[in-house]
Amino acid sequence: MIRRLAVFLLILANSPLTGADEADRHKVDMPAPAASALREEMLMKLQALHQVEAALAAGKPADAAPFVERHLGMGAMGQHAALPPEARPGRYLPDAMFALGRQSHRNGSELAEALKADDRPRIDAALRDVTATCVACHSTYRLH
Ligand code: HEC
Repeated sequence: MIRRLAVFLLILANSPLTGADEADRHKVDMPAPAASALREEMLMKLQALHQVEAALAAGKPADAAPFVERHLGMGAMGQHAALPPEARPGRYLPDAMFALGRQSHRNGSELAEALKADDRPRIDAALRDVTATCVACHSTYRLH
């Protein structure tokens, strides 16, 4: 019985269902203004995902395309370029994290194109790829 429980706990501990543990995520240090800019950017990403769902529910996927390109796509890159260096999150990201961000923006632009084309299977695939990068980055990195 105890052995079974131990095996169960071992499986649970190794299962992705348990989520990312604080200790498993790399802490990324950056000045407060950069962290705050990153957070705002993130909230717009979440809002963009909602806009996609809302546009799909309304049967008008193309309506979400400009917002998606601006906040999830390549259009979101370099948006902090005019800010002082300590408010630009990009320069504080480790290389692998930066690459993940770039991939996320590439997938975001593909999503915007798919929405414009009103191509449901392509939209679904792009949504899957965009959200995969949200999950990958959040389960690997943290600010706090
Ligand atoms: C390249 C890395 C990366 C990618 C890609 C990424 N995020 Fe984030 N996100 C972060 C980090 C780092 C934080 C801060 C976590 C913390 O506070 O420790 C964050 C925080 C957030 C927050 C909380 C903001 C707040 O007010 O605290 C939301 C919401 C969020 N992300 C949504 C998204 C969504 C939706 C996507 C995908 C479309 C996404 N993120 C993609 C790195 C990323």
